Amino acid sequence: MTKILITGGAGFIGSAVIRQFINDTDHSVINVDKLTYAGNLQSLASVSDDPRYCFEHVDICDAAEVARVFREHQPDAVMHLAAESHVDRSISGPAAFIQTNIVGTYTLLEAAREYWNGLDAARKTAFRFHHISTDEVYGSLDETGFFTEDTAYEPNSPYSASKASSDHLVRAWHHTYGLPVLTTNCSNNYGPYHFPEKLIPLVILNAVNGKPLPIYGKGDNIRDWLYVDDHARALRLVLERGTPGETYNIGGWNEKTNLEVVQSICAILDDLHPQGAPHNRHITYVTDRPGHDKRYAIDASKIARDLGWKPQENFESGLRKTVAWYLANDAWVQGVTSGEYQHWLQKNYTNRSAA
Ligand code: NAD
Ligand code: DAU
Repeated sequence: MTKILITGGAGFIGSAVIRQFINDTDHSVINVDKLTYAGNLQSLASVSDDPRYCFEHVDICDAAEVARVFREHQPDAVMHLAAESHVDRSISGPAAFIQTNIVGTYTLLEAAREYWNGLDAARKTAFRFHHISTDEVYGSLDETGFFTEDTAYEPNSPYSASKASSDHLVRAWHHTYGLPVLTTNCSNNYGPYHFPEKLIPLVILNAVNGKPLPIYGKGDNIRDWLYVDDHARALRLVLERGTPGETYNIGGWNEKTNLEVVQSICAILDDLHPQGAPHNRHITYVTDRPGHDKRYAIDASKIARDLGWKPQENFESGLRKTVAWYLANDAWVQGVTSGEYQHWLQKNYTNRSAA
């Protein structure tokens, strides 16, 4: 059994990774999360009573607390997902992105290096620091071509620039100090437990509630969509079998314009939730995102060739499952939309200040 320290485990992708580790393996997990607006412990309700799961309410920028977590838990590997993740928020307020994505990654790398240096030879060789990143570091594509692991970095938003910086730090900690790192750069994820500020969950919930479905610009920007559980499976495979120092691109071979995505969601809702049909009458074109990247598309052949990964879900099946999940999980949705999901945080802060 392996002990894995996962940062950002209360988020969308981190919680999918943790659910897989607890449900499908015998590994144990330490979830290190600050519980920002994007962190939601309700997404882990199905596994949080398992003795192999443990939660540490820690900000990755807090060097002393991060060092304590390494000391107390003695992990065999780190999977680093904690980040500020929303491009629109990075445009209106970049500071938190610089802090968590750059300073936080630096703080975690330093704590990991100190801890790794103190391990015995066998554990030192086996240790891995897996940094989870995004295809947005490569910038934007025109109509043709794909991002490969050799594509030059050209980040365009404060979010992608902060993630690119963190990728460079991780690379340097390998090159300079020999820390056994792995980096993955993935395309757009979708699926259950996605915070409804992102396009797909926002459109599902707005459509169900008869609210406008905002499309930036003409809706012709292209994203490459991957079902979140396929991403989680790829991350586990890279952790287990990836070569230290290597980068792996992960993507769904699944390019869609934003308008196609929204139309598909509306068509599925017309079928599963006919009360509001036709749902696409709520489509509303709004002012474009500043600096909006035109097209992302991942060449995922390296991870297929070297590690044998391929996605299990296609976009049609994955999107249908996702829409059905949001319709069936009103308690989770209500928890998020009412703000109740942050009650754990409020309760524990209150208790601490009362003590
Ligand atoms: P998310 O916003 O849903 O979750 C982020 C998590 O990090 C939250 O639980 C939050 O509380 C936690 N966090 C934020 N700041 C923290 C801090 N200072 N200390 C500790 N915890 C903190 O994000 P996500 O969509 O699950 O993305 C996870 C990772 O995957 C990110 O690094 C993101 O850049 C990357 N990624 C995301 C996608 C995508 O489509 N969502 C695609 C490729 C890569
Ligand atoms: O490519 C990977 C990235 O995908 C991740 O690194 C990010 O963490 C993740 O948030 C996601 O970034 P995007 O900006 O692509 O995701 P978002 O869901 O915000 O937007 C998807 C597309 O839809 C994008 O072209 C902008 C557009 N959009 C988004 C929203 C929220 C709209 O047209 N209307 C909207 O209301």
